[in-house]
Parts: sequence; structure tokens; C-alpha cells
Amino acid sequence: MKIEHIGIATRSLDEALLFWRDALGLEVVHTEVVEEQGVRVALLPVGEPRIELLEPTHEGSPVAKFLEKRGAGIHHVAVRVADIRASLQRLKGQGARLIDESPRVGAGGCLVAFVHPQSAGGVLLELVEHTPSSTQG
Ligand code: CO
Repeated sequence: MKIEHIGIATRSLDEALLFWRDALGLEVVHTEVVEEQGVRVALLPVGEPRIELLEPTHEGSPVAKFLEKRGAGIHHVAVRVADIRASLQRLKGQGARLIDESPRVGAGGCLVAFVHPQSAGGVLLELVEHTPSSTQG
């Protein structure tokens, strides 16, 4: 397993990029709207893992709700797994509370699934499996 990315919620990608890209000096390698999750995403590698900036595309989306409740900041940690279905089975068998019982398609065409913070020490955990068709390998 590897850290795949750290998701950071922001009200404005443009504003967040003033820090992460312009001040800190990271490079944006990918931007994308993930309609299913209601987010506009920018990926900035830090070595192999990436910072994933998340801006809500509409009110009421999960990230918009997060921003309302908690404000801008770390939203989730994502680990890359070899077989996401096997990982979900294992977690379920261990009694973990899953947000996604089965994987869905995330940014870059990867398969993703979220584990509830209640089971992960208060951290929203995303599992990511790269697939032959995903562009973010
Ligand atoms: Co993510």
C-alpha cells in the first residue's frame, strides 16, 4: 500500500492554487470535474503521492457540506490498494463502516471507495485502485 493522495477541501481552487502552486511551487499535473462526486479536482504531485485539491461544483455536494461544517482543510487520506474489492471485503469482515460497499469510478478513471471516519480514527479514508484504463497511473 502507498499513500495515493491527500484530499484538501477548498471553496476556491484558484485561491488554493495561489498557495500550493504559486507560493509552495508544486505543479498542477491534472484538473478534472468529477460529476459523480460534485467536485472540481486539481492534482499536484509531492513525490509520488499527490495533493488533491477539491472545490465543490454545487451546493449540497459532500465537499460543500464539509466546508460548511468544518471549513477548508484536510478532507480525506487516500491509500492505493492492489485489489479494491478484496480490501472492501476485508474491511467489512473486520466490522469497518463503509460508505461505499462497492467501488465507483473516481478521478482519472480509478476505482475508489470511501471508508467512514468512524472506523478510521476520525479520518475519512479513500481506497484507490488504478486500472488499465485509468490515466493517473
Ligand atoms: Co480523493
